[in-house]
This record gives sequence, C-alpha cells and structure tokens, in this order.
Amino acid sequence: MNYRHAFHAGNFADVVKHALFCRLVRYLQRKDGAIRIYDTHAGPGLYDLSGDEASRTLEHQGGIAALAAADPAIRADPLLSDYWNCVAPDLAEGRYPGSPLIARRLLRPQDRLSAYELHPVDGDALKTRFAGDTAVKAIALDGWLALGAHVPPKERRGLVLIDPPFEKVSEVDDIAAALARALHRWRGGIYAVWYPMKRQAMVERLRDALVEVAPGEVVFAEFLAEPMSAEERFVGTGLAVINPPFVFAEEAEALLSRLLPVLGRGTTATFAVKQRPASGS
Ligand SMILES: C[S@@+](CC[C@H](N)C(=O)[O-])C[C@H]1O[C@@H](n2cnc3c(N)ncnc32)[C@H](O)[C@@H]1O
Repeated sequence: MNYRHAFHAGNFADVVKHALFCRLVRYLQRKDGAIRIYDTHAGPGLYDLSGDEASRTLEHQGGIAALAAADPAIRADPLLSDYWNCVAPDLAEGRYPGSPLIARRLLRPQDRLSAYELHPVDGDALKTRFAGDTAVKAIALDGWLALGAHVPPKERRGLVLIDPPFEKVSEVDDIAAALARALHRWRGGIYAVWYPMKRQAMVERLRDALVEVAPGEVVFAEFLAEPMSAEERFVGTGLAVINPPFVFAEEAEALLSRLLPVLGRGTTATFAVKQRPASGS
C-alpha cells in the first residue's frame, strides 16, 4: 500500500467529490429517520496542508485554495454552503478535512458513521480521531471486507462512499465484485463510487462495470479540469452514484457548473452528468 492521500488532500477532485457527497447526505436527511454513512476507504480524516506531503505537490492550490479565493457568492450557494461550512474551520488553520470528518460534521444526533481504513498509520490516525465518539465506528479494516459484512445497517437508509486509491490493476473488478455483494445484501442503499479520469478506456470500463452490477439507475457526475489526452495525466474526477436520489443529477449539474470557473484550467474545462440507463428509456 503506497498511496497516501496527504499528497492530494484538498485538490480539485476532493472538492468535487466532497461537495457532491454533502448533497447526497443532505438528501437522505430530508426525512427525520436515522441514516448510516459508510466510508470504506476513509483515510486518516484530517490533513495538514503545510505538511511535507501536501507541500511537495501543492495540489490543494488548484482545489480548495481556489475555492477559498473565489467570489464568496459561489461558496454561499445553497448547493455548496454545507460543504464549505464543513471545511472552512480547518482551512482557517491550514488543514483540510477528509471524507470521514466531513461526514461526521453533517451527522444529526440520530445518524451514524462507519469508517474503515487499511493503511496502518492512517488507520491508527482515524481511530484516534474518533475515539470516544459514540456516533462513529472508526475501524482499521479492509473496506471491501467491511462492505460485504456490515451492510445493511439497522437504520435501513444510508449511503456508502467508496473511494479507493486506484493503485491496483484489479481496482475496477474489485469495485464491481464488492458492489455486487453489497447490493445483494442491501439493495436500497445509495452507493457513491469515486474514480479518477486519466484514461478514457479505464473510465469506460468502470462505467460499464457499474451499469452491469447496478440493478437500477446510475448517475455519473464527471468534471474535467482539462481534456483527457494520450499522456494519461490525472485531469478529471468522477463520482458514480448507484440508486441516486431523484434530485441528484439536477443538483450535480448545477453544482459542477458553479465549480467550473473555479477549478477548471482554462476554457477547455468541462463537466457532464449522465444517467444510465438514460432517463425515460
Ligand atoms: C483516496 S484515499 C481516501 C480519501 C478519503 N476518502 C477522503 O475523501 O478524504 C484512499 C484510501 O484508501 C485506503 N485503502 C487502500 N486500500 C484499502 C482497503 N482495502 N480498505 C480500506 N482502505 C484502503 C488508502 O490507504 C487511502 O487512505
């Protein structure tokens, strides 16, 4: 396991992923009943933007720092304000919160979070961060195993964030296999799968695999800071949502259009929100 998210924390992909994630949580919270959030690849939960790793890449400059410097009206937009309110306190201290901390900040008293991280150092940091917090189960465990064993939740309604490092060739197959098992146990859960956009062929393979495994609709929300090319650079970010809330595609479209001038690298930046099967078909 070589991947450490500290090198990438707060980059443009984190901003897009976490902002969309907040919308999914808020949708589930439209009802009073408790929800459960699962974060299968949680990371340590908080990142020092002036630390060694982040300082080497400075990726946050094209992400959360750009949003912080943008027109305040963008951050105050109702589609972005929950996300901004979750990250702003840490940002003021030179830090960026990861997905489990963002999820924790969105929980209501009745909601629960289960977060898993396999890397020994980051797993320990995650457990320490949430020690004594009765709303959170933070476990140093293989997220794929957890997903197969821990769903469905007793709350019955909820969301799974699947955010693997994509450092293994088998990652697409691993995601599809884990989702097939989880959907068998919990057909009605919302599953959000993050993916990097570097290679067109890999993106298409992932899209096809998810459509094949999902019993119903899948929405793909994709943001390209610049076009993909043969160079295979990490230029875009995608979030595939299985069993999406009915408002998700519309909200994602509006949210990505707000972020386009902030995170796009020039006039070739684009975004797309696609529904498969296409709506109405
Ligand atoms: C992209 S990062 C997660 C970032 C985090 N979700 C966020 O948004 O702040 C992927 C994480 O998955 C962890 N990881 C890799 N394989 C794993 C596995 N099988 N189970 C759980 N965590 C794993 C890595 O150590 C890394 O911290």
